[in-house]
Amino acid sequence: MKRVTKAVFPAAGMGTRFLPATKANPKEMLPIVDKPLIQYAAEEAVAAGITDLIFIIGRTKRAIADHFDKAYELEVELEMKGKLRALEQLRNMLPPHVNCIYIRQAEALGLGHAVLCAEPAVNDEPFVVILADDLIDADPGVTRQMCDLYDYYQCSVVGVQPVAPEDTVSYGIVAGEHMADRLLRMTHIVEKPKPADAPSNLGVVGRYVLTPRIFDHLRRIERGAGGELQLTDAIQSLLREQQVLAYEYQGTRYDCGSKLGYLEATVEYALKHPELAEEFAAFIQKRFCVTPGVAQG
Ligand code: UTP
Repeated sequence: MKRVTKAVFPAAGMGTRFLPATKANPKEMLPIVDKPLIQYAAEEAVAAGITDLIFIIGRTKRAIADHFDKAYELEVELEMKGKLRALEQLRNMLPPHVNCIYIRQAEALGLGHAVLCAEPAVNDEPFVVILADDLIDADPGVTRQMCDLYDYYQCSVVGVQPVAPEDTVSYGIVAGEHMADRLLRMTHIVEKPKPADAPSNLGVVGRYVLTPRIFDHLRRIERGAGGELQLTDAIQSLLREQQVLAYEYQGTRYDCGSKLGYLEATVEYALKHPELAEEFAAFIQKRFCVTPGVAQG
């Protein structure tokens, strides 16, 4: 049995919804309180036993590699100034047994194309895809939940959540047969359908465990929704030869690719931050006359 040890982080999108913040920086480097989105994603992968982190980078190519590289000069400076806590945080960002690999997607041709760019590093192994702008607060992490399902069923697993009918145009939508609690055997997946054409209300979020067969299908698909090479279309094609499961993950997701989701995540994570929680809750209470965590009305 092959365990999942590789994770692919597509981070080469245009990030148009966050311009101009994403002009010189990928949106995956936007911070939630004090950590960039890509670091939350990397930590989620490492907690699931992943040892190879494969970043697909684009136009703003240096930022992510710089973030995970050792910063010798900064470390010396922090040590000299006695800022030992900050130094320790920097040194422990990733455990030493974890490898980072960077692959360039020269042109933003779509998520499907970004995943295909990872093939030389993934080879013939199952792997996880994590979209860092979908920040999911969960314990255990969603990647761990899905790798456990892969270990048991030995097939691809796609993370889903119920979405409002009017929102189907923003998601890949799946249909399937009930298999177990929170688990469907997928029969169909379609990218961004109109509400009237959506086969269900279950939308794909940014977590996938995929078998390496997906690469053959990614090579064959044509441009789909939005003129992009869509991972969804390759999964629909994969379904014809392999079982794929849709899993309604346990956790709270923040769509940090949208400004509203990003702000929601910032508030929630600040209210849980060990150094900030108390003062930030007091600020919210003073500013809005509400006590965070207490339902109003
Ligand atoms: P999005 O659909 O959110 O697109 O990509 P985007 O370009 O990043 O953002 P907007 O919609 O213009 O604001 C989903 C994920 O796929 C990656 C993105 O970085 C994001 O993690 N992606 C998308 C690529 O890596 N390459 C692509 O060609 C497209």
